Amino acid sequence: MELIESKYDNEIIIEDVSFKYNREEVISKAHFHIDRGSFVCFIGPNGGGKSTLAKLILGLLKPTEGYISIFGQSPLKARGRVGYVPQYTNFDLEFPINVIDVVLMGRLKKGSLFYNKQDRDAARNALKSVDLEGFENRHFSELSGGQRQRVLIARAISANPEVLILDEPTSNIDATTENMLYKLLFKLNNRMTIILISHNLTFVSENVKKVICINKEVKIHPTGDITSCSIDKLFSHPVKFVEHSTKVEEIHE
Ligand SMILES: Nc1ncnc2c1ncn2[C@@H]1O[C@H](COP(=O)(O)OP(=O)(O)O)[C@@H](O)[C@H]1O
Ligand SMILES: [Mg+2]
Repeated sequence: MELIESKYDNEIIIEDVSFKYNREEVISKAHFHIDRGSFVCFIGPNGGGKSTLAKLILGLLKPTEGYISIFGQSPLKARGRVGYVPQYTNFDLEFPINVIDVVLMGRLKKGSLFYNKQDRDAARNALKSVDLEGFENRHFSELSGGQRQRVLIARAISANPEVLILDEPTSNIDATTENMLYKLLFKLNNRMTIILISHNLTFVSENVKKVICINKEVKIHPTGDITSCSIDKLFSHPVKFVEHSTKVEEIHE
């Protein structure tokens, strides 16, 4: 088993994955690979199954059918190798919590309620990576939306994951902050694989080589292939779209 798996150490493999919450299939026979080190986007209409697919990759949900491997390990075993910024963080902003304590949550280990020096150093480094050095003792609730989002990214990367999944991280922030966030993600992409769930097609078309379109069924496109027509079909309503000339270097069937 180990020998067979080692062949896939550099890929996230989704093989014929289907998923049902209840009776109805939400993901139907998804089949694709994500290379280590790449930056891919999941796009698709609301309710299309993007968050569900993210949770399957994270091992928070189990496929009804099919197989997922994260660099040769099952999602459950690979849990510590994948960082996650969820779509909705129901943080009670009234709750007085410092930035460093939010980031430290990313270092929580099973069976331990305490953080050691290594945890604190890692949390500080994570804050540095998102350009929030010096914010350790600020209250989370005092921060702007963009800063809060960066703290949540720091929390997700504080355990030095190999993959970072962000579920629509820009839905509540303004355009300038959004651009800063993308810059940060490209910087992080130098050391980890990024899976970004995004609605911003302009950003996607200009910067990302591979998009994974999710509307129950999953289709992979190099961005050069995406036309406003195919996007409209996917979203079932017209979507503003900017033409582009992204160089396509890889095409996955
Ligand atoms: N916990 C759940 N229980 C039952 N159905 C769910 C649950 N979460 C999501 N769904 C349904 O699964 C489908 C896909 O949802 P989701 O993955 O959240 O889509 P997206 O992130 O693309 O908006 C939707 O029809 C949604 O209503
Ligand atoms: Mg979602």
